[in-house]
Amino acid sequence: MNITIIGSGYVGLVSGICFARLGHNVTCIDNQEEKIHTLNKGEIPIFEPGLKEMLADARSNNLISFSSDLSAHIANCDAVFIAVGTPQDEDGSADLSYVLTAAQEINDLCLDLNKKDLILVTKSTVPVGTAEKIKKITKNSGLKIASNPEFLREGNAIEDFMKPDRVVIGCDDELSSEALRKIYSPLTEVRIVETDTKTSELIKYTSNALLATKIAFINEIANLCEKTGANIKELSKATGLDSRIGEKFLNVGPGYGGSCFPKDVNALIRTGKDNEVNLSIIDAVESSNVNRKKSMAHRIISQLGGLDQAKGKVVAILGLAFKANTDDIRYSPAIATTKELVKHGIAIRASDFEAIKNSKRELANEDGINYFVDPYKAIENTDLVAILTEWPQYSELDIARIKESMRGNIICDLRNMLNKQEVESYQLQYDYIGKYQNND
Ligand code: UGA
Repeated sequence: MNITIIGSGYVGLVSGICFARLGHNVTCIDNQEEKIHTLNKGEIPIFEPGLKEMLADARSNNLISFSSDLSAHIANCDAVFIAVGTPQDEDGSADLSYVLTAAQEINDLCLDLNKKDLILVTKSTVPVGTAEKIKKITKNSGLKIASNPEFLREGNAIEDFMKPDRVVIGCDDELSSEALRKIYSPLTEVRIVETDTKTSELIKYTSNALLATKIAFINEIANLCEKTGANIKELSKATGLDSRIGEKFLNVGPGYGGSCFPKDVNALIRTGKDNEVNLSIIDAVESSNVNRKKSMAHRIISQLGGLDQAKGKVVAILGLAFKANTDDIRYSPAIATTKELVKHGIAIRASDFEAIKNSKRELANEDGINYFVDPYKAIENTDLVAILTEWPQYSELDIARIKESMRGNIICDLRNMLNKQEVESYQLQYDYIGKYQNND
């Protein structure tokens, strides 16, 4: 089928390249000429494992092209996917202006071309009721409107697209349903869940909010472990073995970040308010996570002996990205923690495998930060080493080498990646999430 994707950001690019892998003819549109130029050279402006190779395949099979000119591609198109951003507005709601502008543009082009058989699908995360708004905008052109939310995790996006737990399609008419089923038909093993557009839109928020809830919940239980001496690792493992609960997303840490959970949780809270529905649980998740992210810097400071002692100390921050396998630092707990430490006069030696460029931009106004790709370089002559991102390489760190190269002896493992016995065997003071704060 001929597919056009509007928005060549993270979701648009991954989806476009994966649709081409399924054999469709794809055009990805973006109004940033420079991005289109980069993509047309076969380069990828984001970091996502495996995507560059897949793009090369799609290009050699002539299944993908990139353009800034939407009008040139609508005439022969079967389905247009909107994959533009829905950033958080001041009141927490999702800003739909990019989505609605794109819908208006497609509507106008269809009217000009007298094209009546086009399906317009939202892939962007949009609040329940957005399809209805789009239908109003596009009622003269007769476009069919559908919803097809994405469940792609950064760093794992290709697998999430090709082997998803489910594909959700929200359709209010037969034509959209047939078109979307046809588009996904090459994924023969995959379960397609078909519903109406409203339900489909809300499934996306429910999924992200429930995952965020699991993380915030287990992080609070870890706080209880710290007071009582219960073992968080064994606890989350055993709890997750109950198939009704599931093991995933029960890893403790410095709080969730990224471009999705924080934004989507806030947008869902807003939807609740707009509809006068009390969503007290998700309200609590948001404030729990905000507090958790804030508390990490103070945890490090207290390991250094409090504010007065900490001033002038040097801390290695291992990991700046909001999670492993990405260069994305949006709402990253590591960035928030770094800013707070700098504010209290602590010098930072920061390290990340992919996110240094973005971090330098975000932290440009902060003094006293040096950057190193190599974690061992970052650790040199530091008083404390803090692990903030779950890059798998950190679990392989050579503790003897760390001990050798630090000037202090404190490790603050905020992702529980290291082996306690091993770290302590080097006479290092090991702080980790869930550690019993025995004050007796
Ligand atoms: C999330 C969802 O997982 C995707 O299904 C969804 O499509 C995407 O948002 C989106 O809405 O576009 P993503 O933001 O890429 O994906 O990252 P996750 O892997 O979900 O992690 C989010 C945050 O939670 C990270 O900061 C991560 O470190 C944290 N996390 C995750 C934990 O602290 N503990 C866990 O057990 C899992």
